[in-house]
Amino acid sequence: MGSAALRVVLIASEMGPWAKTGGLADVMESLPPALRHLGIDLRLILPGYRQMLQAGIPAGSVHTGLHAWLGPQRLAFSVHRMRTETGIPIDLIEREDMFDRPNLYADSQGDYYDNAERFIFFCRALTVWLQTWDIVPHIVHCNDWHTGLVPVLLQSIPAFRSSATLFTIHNLGYPGLFDADKFALTGLDPNHHYRPDGLEFFGRWSMLKAGMFYSRAVSTVSPTYAREIQQPEYGRGFDGVLAARSASVFGILNGVDYGKWSPEKDPHIAANYSRKDLSGKSACKADLIRRCGLAADLHKQPVIGIVSRLDTQKGIDLILPILDQLMDDLHLGLIILGTGDKNLENRLAEASGSSRKRLAFIPQFDEVLSRQILAGADMLLVPSRYEPCGLTQLYAMQYATIPVVRATGGLNDTVVDVDADPANGWGFTFGRADPQDCLSAIERAAALYRRSPGEWQRIQQRGMAMDFSWDRSALAYQRLYRSLISDSTT
Ligand code: ADP
Ligand code: GLC
Repeated sequence: MGSAALRVVLIASEMGPWAKTGGLADVMESLPPALRHLGIDLRLILPGYRQMLQAGIPAGSVHTGLHAWLGPQRLAFSVHRMRTETGIPIDLIEREDMFDRPNLYADSQGDYYDNAERFIFFCRALTVWLQTWDIVPHIVHCNDWHTGLVPVLLQSIPAFRSSATLFTIHNLGYPGLFDADKFALTGLDPNHHYRPDGLEFFGRWSMLKAGMFYSRAVSTVSPTYAREIQQPEYGRGFDGVLAARSASVFGILNGVDYGKWSPEKDPHIAANYSRKDLSGKSACKADLIRRCGLAADLHKQPVIGIVSRLDTQKGIDLILPILDQLMDDLHLGLIILGTGDKNLENRLAEASGSSRKRLAFIPQFDEVLSRQILAGADMLLVPSRYEPCGLTQLYAMQYATIPVVRATGGLNDTVVDVDADPANGWGFTFGRADPQDCLSAIERAAALYRRSPGEWQRIQQRGMAMDFSWDRSALAYQRLYRSLISDSTT
């Protein structure tokens, strides 16, 4: 089959820049143009969030009169057909009471109480919608738990027997886990599906498990995470299911859209710069220090940036016990942009209040500031306990900001330690999720920064030269899609 004939539907619950809580949105913004560039006939399906419908994307057409079951209720929905700037069609499954809300999944009091209903309905409605199409897609590519029911629902639709389903796990930490009483909403027969070899998961049931159990193949967003999740330490109880189908579990690294993440073109940073001429970075550092209200003398000291969700996954708490060493012994500056866990937010706010202007904590989600940190900091710290891929370290490298990361998941696949491989390395890594290990890596980085500005610059340039573009990832997805189709025709 020629690539022009490959028809793929990509389904997810986020898409940048409109509906974003994390890296899944970046993936859904940047992977589709790269797939289309390969000649793949692509269509996206997302929930009809307020954030998408009000984004000013012109609707091509609106389809009404559609219905899907949620348990015993037959509910109406509509589909808004839109196109991205580059012409890729997006179908938004719209039901006002479910998706017209201020946030995607939660409010200040926690997760929306009806997330099971919302995403079961999303899956059921989109499978109804798919059946109205004239042409059946070759590949239905689902992402994360919000889409997990799609592979099992499609199994019972004869027209879709020839389609292959791919389920991509972006984060095993979000299993879409619900109590038994919600299972009836799925419309699935409990005798067949509410079982350990099905959706049941330790007395409850999981939409993520549905995706990984019933899809033709499973992928995740880095080769290391693909191996890790088949082991108990990282598998969160799903390792058995994944290890049992090991031959169809793949790791495809995420990429970077260098058109969007480039210090040469970024309009939000104080000065543009490039690999050949890094001089603008110093103006970005001065601007960042001033903007964050930090001590001006930090300009001569290494400044560490962090841009992250504040979640146990990200290991930001590991720096709390070492803050005194970082600021008093190593004389570093530290700028943290992130929101999430309230307890951690409070502890960071308290620490920044007493840090003598060496630590700034900004509890916001702010893309412009995130870019200013990427450009103005000397290092970006990503101390994750686990990390399926991680994108900020890739963006940092492009902005000549040296990554200091825990060697896990995608961080392990994208950062090579300077001391372990002096001729090729472009970052600093540490092994255990432990404050002292994290401190040692930062100490090594700070020592090099002070010892040899020339060597520091060579490492910055090496990182900038690395190619983690989406084109590579898109080719890997294309190969996987083709192999799934040929499996189904043999
Ligand atoms: P995850 O998806 O686990 O949050 P990634 O590194 O894959 O981690 O992606 C995170 C994305 O969210 C990046 O684009 C990052 O810049 C962005 N991000 C995270 N926190 C913030 C924040 N507070 N403000 C702006 N952007 C943020
Ligand atoms: C998840 C992961 C992150 C990954 C992103 C996009 O949120 O935590 O590591 O980069 O998805 O795949």
